[in-house]
Amino acid sequence: MLIKKQLLLFFLLAISGIAFADNGYRLWLRYDRINNQQVAGKYNKQIQQLYISGNSATIQKAKQEFTNAIQGLLGKKISIVNKLTTDGTVIAGTVASNKILGALDPKELKNASDEAFYITTMQINNRSCILICGNSDIGVLYGIFHFLRLVNTGQDITKLDILSSPKIKYRLLNHWDNLNRTVERGYAGASIWDWHKLPDYIDQRYIDYARANASIGINGTVLTNVNANATILTRPYLDKVAALANVFRPYGIRVFLTARFSAPIEIGGLKTADPLDAAVQDWWKQKIKEIYSLIPDFGGFLIKANSEGQPGPQDYKRNHAQGANMFADALAPYQGIVLWRAFVYSQQSNDRFKQAYEEFKPLDGQFKPNVILQVKNGPIDFQPREPFSPLFGAMPHTPLAMEFQLTQEYLGQGTHLVFEAPLFKEALNADTYEKGKGSTVAKIVDGTVDNFSLTAMAGVSNIGSDINWTSHPFAQANWYALGRLAWDHNLSSDQIAEEWLEQTFSNDRSFVAVSKSIMLRSRETLVNYMTPLGLAHIMYNGHHYGPMPWGNTLGRPDWNPVYYHKADSAGIGFNRTVTGTNALEEYQQGASSSWADSNKCADEYLLWFHHVSWNHRMHSGKTLWNELCFRYNAGVDSIRKIQQQWNSLERFVDAERFIQVKQLLNIQVKEAVWWRNACLLYFQTFSKMPIPSVYEQPDKTLEYYKSLRFPYAPGN
Ligand code: GCU
Repeated sequence: MLIKKQLLLFFLLAISGIAFADNGYRLWLRYDRINNQQVAGKYNKQIQQLYISGNSATIQKAKQEFTNAIQGLLGKKISIVNKLTTDGTVIAGTVASNKILGALDPKELKNASDEAFYITTMQINNRSCILICGNSDIGVLYGIFHFLRLVNTGQDITKLDILSSPKIKYRLLNHWDNLNRTVERGYAGASIWDWHKLPDYIDQRYIDYARANASIGINGTVLTNVNANATILTRPYLDKVAALANVFRPYGIRVFLTARFSAPIEIGGLKTADPLDAAVQDWWKQKIKEIYSLIPDFGGFLIKANSEGQPGPQDYKRNHAQGANMFADALAPYQGIVLWRAFVYSQQSNDRFKQAYEEFKPLDGQFKPNVILQVKNGPIDFQPREPFSPLFGAMPHTPLAMEFQLTQEYLGQGTHLVFEAPLFKEALNADTYEKGKGSTVAKIVDGTVDNFSLTAMAGVSNIGSDINWTSHPFAQANWYALGRLAWDHNLSSDQIAEEWLEQTFSNDRSFVAVSKSIMLRSRETLVNYMTPLGLAHIMYNGHHYGPMPWGNTLGRPDWNPVYYHKADSAGIGFNRTVTGTNALEEYQQGASSSWADSNKCADEYLLWFHHVSWNHRMHSGKTLWNELCFRYNAGVDSIRKIQQQWNSLERFVDAERFIQVKQLLNIQVKEAVWWRNACLLYFQTFSKMPIPSVYEQPDKTLEYYKSLRFPYAPGN
């Protein structure tokens, strides 16, 4: 009797489709059985067979993905056919590979990119069909993934008319992975690249990594840390890289490597790495030839030079353009590109904010056509909120790539739920005024403002070998968002959150409404409890975990938190106006004018640009000190509310992920309180004002917070 009851319960759970453990490995490609009978019934009629043309490896992958997905979603084996025999035929291929698509020859695709696809529904020979036409086989694969997303998110597929073409050409992940499998700023376990077992051992993860990336349009991956190791360029390692490239190729993903500028000395036996030295140039030419003999579609190099101790052209009194152009010349015959990073700062400048502009602006127009300058979204370093980097809007003759950070180095690392799409969108939507109003960062990056076809967007990866790839289940959404926005930066954060949730967790409307609201508020919540009102870089030295606004012991001023907030008895904030470092002049006037006056500047950016008194009147009418207290507390209140909301979602989520997120939110709440208390107690030593009694008072002393140490915090 008991056994019967258990069986019945099991059966009920199975058909209701909820509550089985899910370790998160499948990311947003879960393809679990659709449990809404009505929806499933419709799809069953509309998707009966797949007529797919072409026989490339990419088409094989498209076929596999489609059959696996339909098997999962609808519980049936889909037949693969080579003619149209019934209603519900999905016809996929290119104009060249498929007769029906050839006859149709969709005009929509004519001016679209090679990777574009067009999905439409129509009656052909009295049969209702769904057509997925790619401009290339990879376009077909992207189209299949898009179609599966529609089904996975429960969309109506009766009448489709979708043309989709990527706005950015190179859509990249940047792994900061070392050859010993540690990951710089990685919070999700060891590097997924098992260099030791490569090239012979192909981990299933490499394939699933490629599938996940292709499903969101990511088409390139930089495998190695920007703080580069020349060993990756030696033959044994290039063989390993080639093995990965072979796995990724059918999915439209090209590999890139980081090149250590001094490699000719370290592994080439030369005495110099001077980019104008003929022997050095020749060494790189030979090396690049070797790489292309192993990896014919190798993407190129990402290079961090003369930054944070990395070698570079300035070691030989050459400039960044001379350095980048040496690589560009050697890569050009193979259509390879150079992603040259603009992340530089040394002690000479009176303001770290200004340095990248000071070094690169004079070089505008001097880079070879296959060089793209890769710029972080903000001028400092991936802070919870930064104004956009002034290089966007200042380099009309140089293509600029956007670099975002998916791994949450300054955003609560592995334990805080922070959906980054709103941060990315804020940077992309900012107006540079380069060519007048409407010259948004997005339009600089996608090449429309300055007419560049070489365009790129990169995300510093948050992927590791944790079973769910990103450690925090919600961090997967940041990987997802990067891919979707690189494909189409017009997508809203709302839409990205919604489709990610539906695929990753559940289509249930009540679940989606609440969890989406959590995601959309999460970034502002973090800004409030960490760095409100334009504070920045007050994290602990080195590992950047936790608050350390008092930090002032490191050798260089710009390594210390006190440099960034400049709190004193008179007030707080960094004066970057004409009376200060005048970093504002690096922006076009249209952009800087909204920040220039401390009485008009938006609260969000106030302390980025102004040193204001503790009694400064804020837009709310509060004094700065009271506003600071309010914001820190609002951040804590908000994360507590999020915690409650998540706890109300238990019935919608499998136990495994529900508990994971719940435990992580408990940590996040504790840490938000820690941030608030430590920062307010410290800033209070300057303001000498009370924390208004309406707010929770710190339960520990400043000395206690100062005494905390985390010698083994990860990612350092
Ligand atoms: C940050 C980060 C470093 C990283 C650097 C970079 O400073 O803390 O670990 O190497 O950015 O982007 O190069």
